[in-house]
Amino acid sequence: MSKKVITDSVPQHIAIVMDGNRRWARSKGLPEGKGHEAGADALEMIVEAAAKLGIKTVTVYALSTENIRERARREISGIFKLLRKGYNTKLKRMMGNGVRVDILGERSGLPKVIQKIIEEIKKTYIKNESIKLNIALNYGGRKELMNAVKDLIKEGIDVDKINETIIDKHLYTNGQSNPELVIRTGGHIRLSNFLLWQTAYSELYFTKKFWPDFGPQDLKKAVLWYQSQQRNFGK
Ligand code: FPP
Repeated sequence: MSKKVITDSVPQHIAIVMDGNRRWARSKGLPEGKGHEAGADALEMIVEAAAKLGIKTVTVYALSTENIRERARREISGIFKLLRKGYNTKLKRMMGNGVRVDILGERSGLPKVIQKIIEEIKKTYIKNESIKLNIALNYGGRKELMNAVKDLIKEGIDVDKINETIIDKHLYTNGQSNPELVIRTGGHIRLSNFLLWQTAYSELYFTKKFWPDFGPQDLKKAVLWYQSQQRNFGK
């Protein structure tokens, strides 16, 4: 692709629904778990490519609260195993290369070993941060909003003091900038309970490609598409 990304209007924050891992595996006659493994490889490549483009934050949907509830135990424990392995290999390598990793979502309900990894990730200090990677795990957008409401009530906040900034601060994203661009792979045109509050003004990009096939050139294509959109925030 010859078109160049305009460097001063690169989205600062992109959010990705990494869909299509199992269909990718099935299309190749592989077990579904291989699709998630290939998905983790794709993630590492995309984070590196995003940092090179000047993107500052990437938020990915790794596992929704609905996935955990609805999918076969075996598949979910396979994904947790992949996360453990991915933490000791890919994530530690990324963190060594200046990627600040954070985990968004409900910690309770996750296996103890994953909770421990989350704690370790949260206390790791990254020198020379190049990009931030938020991994949404046991995440649900409605639950996130519900928890924010509960916390505000528990804090006894005065109704007149409630504003968008305060709600922002009570979300898992805790006041981070909102994603300007959401990418969903795998062909479905929906948000699936991902970042419901934060995506109010995001540009939404959908591609039929399965997540493991989504590479740096595809990311560039999505960013070029974003740059061709007129963002007017209701004007
Ligand atoms: C959606 O595809 C993908 C998932 C539910 C899991 C995504 C998890 C990873 C890519 C692992 C991330 C790893 C690290 C180390 C952070 P799907 O299973 O819904 O695919 P389908 O639409 O083809 O059924």
